[in-house]
This record gives sequence, C-alpha cells and structure tokens, in this order.
Amino acid sequence: MGKLTTTLTALTLALSVSTAFASECDPGEVVAKLSHVTGGTTHPKVVAANLLADRVNKEMNGKLCIEVFPSSTLFGDSKELEALLLGDVQILAPSLSKFGSYTRQYGVFDLPFIFKDMDAAIRFTNSSSGKELLNAMNNVGFVGLGYWMSGMKYFSANKALHVPADAEGLKFRVQSSDVAKAMIAAMGGSPQPMAFKEVYGALQTGVVDGQENTWSNIYTKKFFEVQDSTTETSHQLLAYLFMTSSEFLDGLEPAVREQFLKISNEVTQTANENVKAKEQNNRANILKAGGKINSLTPEQRATWVETMKPVWKKFESDIGADLIKSAAEA
Ligand code: LMR
Repeated sequence: MGKLTTTLTALTLALSVSTAFASECDPGEVVAKLSHVTGGTTHPKVVAANLLADRVNKEMNGKLCIEVFPSSTLFGDSKELEALLLGDVQILAPSLSKFGSYTRQYGVFDLPFIFKDMDAAIRFTNSSSGKELLNAMNNVGFVGLGYWMSGMKYFSANKALHVPADAEGLKFRVQSSDVAKAMIAAMGGSPQPMAFKEVYGALQTGVVDGQENTWSNIYTKKFFEVQDSTTETSHQLLAYLFMTSSEFLDGLEPAVREQFLKISNEVTQTANENVKAKEQNNRANILKAGGKINSLTPEQRATWVETMKPVWKKFESDIGADLIKSAAEA
C-alpha cells in the first residue's frame, strides 16, 4: 500500500471511529451526549466510551441513545463540568485531577507514588472508601458512575530526565491540580496548568518543556514527536470519573435508569480489565514510531520517591489522613 493510501485509510478509520455514534439516535429517543478529550483508536477512554455507546444504543434502542464526541470536539477541559451542570452534555469522563474546584478529596489519587501500580489503584477504588468517593460531589449535582482506569503516568521533556534534578528550571504542563503543581515545584520545575488539547502545540513551540502522561496519551496525541524522551517514572495514576448529572439521571424513567446503570457497571468492569494491555501496546507503538523511553535504575527511582515525599504532608489536612492511609494500604 502506498503512503498516501495508508494515510487516507488511517484518516477514514479515525473519522469513522470518532463519529461512529454521532448520528445513530432516532427522533423521540432520549439522547445523552458523552464528551471527552482523548483521541485515536487505541486509547482506553476512547474504547470505554465507544463500548458504552455501542451497548446502550443496541440494548436500549428506542429508550436511550448515546452520542460520543471525542478529542474535545464538543467541550474541552475548561468547559465540560460547567456544561454538565447546565445540561448541555450528559456524560463525561474527566481525569480525577480536574475536580479541585469541587472537591479536595480527589487529591488522594494525585499523590505521587501512592499507588504502586494500577492494580493497587483498582483495589482502592473497589474498597468502601473508594466507592464512597464516587459520591463526593453529589451536593453539586454530579453523580459518579464508576472509575475508568487509564494508566500510570510518566514524565517527558525536551531533555532526558533520569533524576528529579534534571527537571530543575524546566516548565511542565500539568492538569488543573494543586497536587500536581506542588509535585513539579518539588522537582525544581515550574508548573503550567493547561487544557489537554493545547499540550502538543505548547510542547512543539516551547511554551512548556515537558509534561506527564500515560503511554496512551503520549502515543495518541503524538507528544513523543516533540519531546526528547519519556522516563518510566510511574509516579502517578491517571484515572477518570465516569459521571453524569443528578438532573439527567433523575429525569430517566426508573426502568431506563436501572438498565443504564447496569450497562454502565458492566462497561466499567470490562474497560478496566483491558487497560493494562492497551497501555503496553501504546508503549510499544511509541518505540515503533521512533520515540525514546528511559528506564530508571532502582537508585534513580528512589530519588524520585524521596523528592516527592513532602508533597503528601502538604495535602494531608485537605485530603484527610484516613483517606490517604486507606489508599496507600491498597
Ligand atoms: C490530561 O489532561 O493530561 C488528561 O487528563 C487527558 C485525559 O483525559 O486522558
């Protein structure tokens, strides 16, 4: 296949995936718009969102219909939560790091090195404290339907990062999270909160020097193309709150609501079972596409852990010592 044909095929595939559920709703059906910021075809959130729409649109045909808007095409980071409260969108899956203006408790998910790996994070979200946190913003009108795991995060920059001191003086894009800001400051860097859809351009033009993300985001948004390399720090978790508004949920007929909640639970289970493999595939995709990955020696890893320890103390009273303890013990 020629290069042009390959590019066209990839483009057609990407278009058909991103709009696959946009026009399937019949007149008269209750329509729920699901907006998110990630893209590509192999990203865990893209796959989970499309699976949800696929199942609801088949199994609840005539009763409920989901339209998916990926890649910030409907709302980006800064507007989506407000849009949910206004009823302009009905389902979201933002990163747990983006709720600082509504609850401080979700800071627990951002504490550096609190989860050894994604399995530890899943154990915590399945615990009673984790389940309770789904309701942390019920007073605002947000309803947590489940946690969608995405992966551990890694630092990338325009130079190789082996120890935190390598990040001294560099600017790092972060999500809108106070914990993330404190973490970058602890490394001697300067944190720059920024919407996800602006990250590639900011890295390319040098507005920021680095960022932190999962293999799936680094691959599908091509960050590796505009960075020297990515370092396997696994310093934080990226997971999403799969959510809706109480206004939308309460407005559904009881039987429709019950079926929607049942499918939502099953989709969450399936999505989380398949995340690790997706992350490993996207790690391999980065290497295949010419991206560089730096692994850490145990001594180097210990310096990252040590540097970030003070961050925990700083947020203990905001988050709650008990909550931190149960997450750390998971
Ligand atoms: C980010 O802003 O880096 C992530 O939250 C994007 C996402 O939703 O995976």
